[in-house]
Amino acid sequence: MNPAKELLNTSLLLSLLVFRFCISLDTISPNQPIKDGDILVSKGETFALGFFSPGNSGGRYVGIWYHKVPEQTVVWVANRDNPLNDTSGLLSINGRGNLVLNSKKRSTPIWSTNASVSSTNNSMAQLLDSGNLVLVLPDNQRVTWQSFDYPTNTLLASMKLGLDRRTGLNRSLTSWKSEDDPGTGTCSYGINPNGYPQFFLYKGGTPLWRTGSWTGRRWSGAPNTVPNLTNYSFVDNQDEITAVYGFTDPTVFTRIVLDESGTIHRLTWNGNKWVEFWSFPEECDRYRECGLSSNCNPYEPDKFWCTCLPGLEPNSTHDWNMRVGSGGCLRKQGASMCRNGEGFVKLVHVKVPDTSVARVNMSLSLKECEQECLRNCSCTAYSSADETRGGIGCLSWHGDLVDIRTFANAGQDLYFRVDAVVLAQYAKKNGLTQSKSMVAILVVSIGLMLLLVVSIARWLVMRKKKAYFEESAMELERSTKNSYLPFFDLSIIIAATDNFSDANKLGQGGFGSVYKGVLDNQKEIAIKRLSKYSGQGIEEFKNEVTIIAELQHKNLVRILGYCIQGEEKMLIYEYLPNKSLDFFIFDETKRSLLDWRRRFEIICGVARGLLYLHQDSRLKIIHRDLKASNILLNNALNPKIADFGMARIIGGDQIEANTNRVVGTYGYMSPEYAMQGLFSVKSDVYSFGVLMLEIITGKKNSAYYHDGPSSNLIGHVWDLWREDKAMEIVDSSLGDQYANEISRCIQIGLLCVQEHATDRPTTSAVVFMLGNNTTLAHPKQPAFILKSTHNGKDRSISEVANSVNEVTITMLDAR
Ligand SMILES: *[C@@H]1O[C@H](CO)[C@@H](O)[C@H](O)[C@H]1NC(C)=O
Ligand SMILES: *[C@@H]1O[C@H](CO)[C@@H](O)[C@H](O)[C@H]1NC(C)=O
Ligand SMILES: *[C@@H]1O[C@H](CO)[C@@H](O)[C@H](O)[C@H]1NC(C)=O
Ligand SMILES: *[C@@H]1O[C@H](CO)[C@@H](O)[C@H](O)[C@H]1NC(C)=O
Ligand SMILES: *[C@@H]1O[C@H](CO)[C@@H](O)[C@H](O)[C@H]1NC(C)=O
Ligand SMILES: *[C@@H]1O[C@H](CO)[C@@H](O)[C@H](O)[C@H]1NC(C)=O
Ligand SMILES: *[C@@H]1O[C@H](CO)[C@@H](O)[C@H](O)[C@H]1NC(C)=O
Ligand SMILES: *[C@@H]1O[C@H](CO)[C@@H](O)[C@H](O)[C@H]1NC(C)=O
Ligand SMILES: *[C@@H]1O[C@H](CO)[C@@H](O)[C@H](O)[C@H]1NC(C)=O
Repeated sequence: MNPAKELLNTSLLLSLLVFRFCISLDTISPNQPIKDGDILVSKGETFALGFFSPGNSGGRYVGIWYHKVPEQTVVWVANRDNPLNDTSGLLSINGRGNLVLNSKKRSTPIWSTNASVSSTNNSMAQLLDSGNLVLVLPDNQRVTWQSFDYPTNTLLASMKLGLDRRTGLNRSLTSWKSEDDPGTGTCSYGINPNGYPQFFLYKGGTPLWRTGSWTGRRWSGAPNTVPNLTNYSFVDNQDEITAVYGFTDPTVFTRIVLDESGTIHRLTWNGNKWVEFWSFPEECDRYRECGLSSNCNPYEPDKFWCTCLPGLEPNSTHDWNMRVGSGGCLRKQGASMCRNGEGFVKLVHVKVPDTSVARVNMSLSLKECEQECLRNCSCTAYSSADETRGGIGCLSWHGDLVDIRTFANAGQDLYFRVDAVVLAQYAKKNGLTQSKSMVAILVVSIGLMLLLVVSIARWLVMRKKKAYFEESAMELERSTKNSYLPFFDLSIIIAATDNFSDANKLGQGGFGSVYKGVLDNQKEIAIKRLSKYSGQGIEEFKNEVTIIAELQHKNLVRILGYCIQGEEKMLIYEYLPNKSLDFFIFDETKRSLLDWRRRFEIICGVARGLLYLHQDSRLKIIHRDLKASNILLNNALNPKIADFGMARIIGGDQIEANTNRVVGTYGYMSPEYAMQGLFSVKSDVYSFGVLMLEIITGKKNSAYYHDGPSSNLIGHVWDLWREDKAMEIVDSSLGDQYANEISRCIQIGLLCVQEHATDRPTTSAVVFMLGNNTTLAHPKQPAFILKSTHNGKDRSISEVANSVNEVTITMLDAR
């Protein structure tokens, strides 16, 4: 044999050997058990299996955890209720082809699988990259048992929950007993097949939360917050009734975990730590948070959220106004509900009542559903079962309705039975709303009458263009339909603010003052009061009412209501005790209160709020005035984007819009917007980039001056970054412990402020970059619009900048 060939053969043999060795690393075979101290690692090294002791526990358990995540994150436990007391454990394939865990001290197995395989079949256990431990027969690759069928407290992508009707296997999550004890705890999460199926979260048998039913696309009571990356599916047929979720990027570690207290979290690993995308239950989500036949509506603060369904009144007056233990609602005395002209009132954007007691008929249309419900006098409500293809199927309820809540932009339509009197009241209201007549719309528009007449008159005079007129009409209709936004009586506001006393004044904004108030029920509110005598701000007021009332996200400030009475025009918000972000980051002493972790959380929160505006809410909204003073902080220092006075809704496919009236704040405006009046999601991304760099450096872009080639903050950061010295400008109070993460954030900030809008990342890309440790692109030159050149366009911006400086620029014609 020639030497070259021999060498080739040897290396082939070697590589074969190595290959075999690698295979054995993820597999337990009859003659290859594992003992305490050994681990199995899946092929792609995502998961590992071995013995572990959780927290302070001394017990030994067999579990599966993420191989590459430094803090051991266990996703499955085999012997969760039967720990070993020493390190003598041995996990092997026994003579019957099952996987068993044995201890030296005991003759009977500690734990074993249940597969029915005969001894001759030579089965093997293999740990897959999905986190599934499977028992397979090598001859035909048939899976005889899998850990995914016996979940503990963690749901991974591609893992099914629910019932296999053929085998009777019912898969659900159960919490651990405590952080130190993976034993079967009291909380569980699984599919309840009764009526129309829903996921239920239980604590000791008591329902805590339900997802609502499957609407064909999603679970009606669980808004999907990362639509691009996750896909959900649900199957209900004679074989199974199961749900599963997928994650489109397999390189991202993501899990859903049920904790010991009964909260369910969705978490993603960002390379450093687990980041939470959502958790349930939140406010208004707890099962039966409000009593029977009432609706939990977080938009009605003065009533403490629980409101009776149309035509109903509180059962007992003393118990009312309370969220927990509310007495529910009853029909008014004398209401005639049977063959006496009754009908249905449509409630929009609600989580429909508990469907485990609903009747289902998938062959009925919505119209037939109505007729069927009307015919049966015990039927109290109905809705479409599946929202795909314009709505199919019929859900109907008989008797009291349980667990309804309102969403701002999720949920479904529910048709609730009312008597002829109530029906007439609602029909009148609806009739007017639907009327094409502009005057009629004005009459019912939520108290904005005078205001709107003035606005329309102005529009009519100023803009004759038909297109523009239609747009305004649509906007008006939108605001009229916004019946959620509660009206606050002026007397309530006067009482809450001690007649607008100076002691309650929080600050002075662009077009009025902001006051703190306390309602009768001790709830704190913030009131933005428009300046009485100035005509300024009316547009912004109307704009804010229209836009923000539609939105609901934990990183957006929540509007609670409005008040228009006489000359008073006010917006009422949730009160946030910690003021705004600028108050912290630009202050020598207070900035130390926000360490890097906090600042990073704030950056991520603002990004998520912005993503919601740009992509996840029903409308596509450009904020146009994102800046540090418009980021409010709550008790826990979580950020909330405020001030939608400048925000604009843009059409579905519209990428950018043009305006002659440039609004925004000096230092945060993108060049294409400041100079050409072009705004798009990318101009918000620009402002966000500026905000990020301000948070990192503790310096204000507009007030910063550096005597170098580029005088503003962005320019200076860019210069330093190119010389690899960007860390020099980082706020010194942040220390250098997180240098890598900070440097990464500087790069993301620079990507956001690139000169050309098309180069800037989308908001979803920003959220993704913040959440995942992926490789970042190299930023191109940022926009230096404020560099002191003598170019005409630049000068006009600088002039405005000098005159208004910090405050929002409300009028600036760029042409
Ligand atoms: C470990 O000790 C506990 C308490 O002493 C006992 O209940 C359990 O059965 C023991 N487990 C094994 C595998 O011996
Ligand atoms: C094995 O089967 C028994 C009863 O059939 C069941 O109680 C037990 O949970 C099963 N165990 C595993 C690990 O599948
Ligand atoms: C095990 O192997 C035998 C023959 O080799 C086969 O008849 C039998 O179906 C196999 N059992 C399973 C559970 O696959
Ligand atoms: C399956 O488990 C869930 C959660 O524990 C439970 O609600 C449901 O009723 C069970 N399904 C069946 C068919 O037993
Ligand atoms: C999610 O989408 C991926 C890719 O399109 C697909 O392979 C997977 O089966 C889907 N998962 C679910 C649960 O629908
Ligand atoms: C009304 O209140 C009474 C007494 O508190 C209670 O027994 C009853 O269940 C309540 N009805 C509803 C519909 O909540
Ligand atoms: C559904 O409605 C149709 C038409 O009324 C009826 O024929 C059918 O029996 C109903 N199915 C069920 C399950 O009630
Ligand atoms: C009305 O619906 C109830 C509950 O489903 C049912 O028991 C009853 O028979 C129905 N009545 C009529 C007249 O169809
Ligand atoms: C989201 O989906 C759209 C359309 O499929 C795609 O263009 C975009 O890049 C996706 N975004 C992310 C962050 O994956």
